[in-house]
Amino acid sequence: MQAAACGSLAAHAMTQRWDPDTYAAHARFVSELGAPVADLLAPQPGERVLDVGCGDGALTERFRAAGCVVVAIDSSPEQVWAALERGLDARIIDARELEFQMEFDAVFSNAVLHWIGDAERVIVGVWRALKPGGRFVGEFGGHGCVASIREAFADALGARDIDVATVDPWYFPTAAQYRSQLESRGFSVDSIQLFPRPTPLPGDVTHWLELFAQPFLSAVPDDGRPALLEEVRARLEPRIRNADGVWIVDYVRLRFAATRPE
Ligand code: BEZ
Repeated sequence: MQAAACGSLAAHAMTQRWDPDTYAAHARFVSELGAPVADLLAPQPGERVLDVGCGDGALTERFRAAGCVVVAIDSSPEQVWAALERGLDARIIDARELEFQMEFDAVFSNAVLHWIGDAERVIVGVWRALKPGGRFVGEFGGHGCVASIREAFADALGARDIDVATVDPWYFPTAAQYRSQLESRGFSVDSIQLFPRPTPLPGDVTHWLELFAQPFLSAVPDDGRPALLEEVRARLEPRIRNADGVWIVDYVRLRFAATRPE
């Protein structure tokens, strides 16, 4: 999932899969914490909204409830199926392959864009999809996001002679970098901010790793994965597990609102 909703991407299709039930059990906080971003979009009745990386559509439903006509896309067939079951107009489309032409008043994306290294391609497609005056509002992982987890994998994979850079799927830009990408395409940036959002997990960090860190785990053969998982968990425990036993992941978010000028 392109997220939420976690979006999913063809580029990592071999190593990153989204199971809607697992997602709902261990990552419902992703769509719940995305509510302020949906509010930032300020959806108006009758507006046409494109949700890029809708995941199971939990957040997309807010736009429908606001009276919008919503198209929800995700590259994960399983997540699109879950969104269809909510009665949404959901379609299997990769965020890098947007072919809409000036159809939308607003494009929204939550917790997806960090899965897409080719940000420019997404931005070009979003621009094309928007009517002049249309808004692009979103949030995703920003510079420094889940640094503890990246470092734990870098150390654990390094000890196995694997360069973590060859498997790390995430793109976490600074606000200045993403602003520059948006402005290069012609967007007017209304707001953009990078902020830490330490996020308590509903259970053990192992679930998070199994759900979100599949590309790292896939770097070793199947029979080596339990040991890798256990080692990464052990490296993380002193850093992100508090005295009450709660795992708190060091999320950093990049939230933005931009407009395609008239
Ligand atoms: C997220 O869903 O927001 C996320 C996933 C993986 C790494 C960082 C953030």
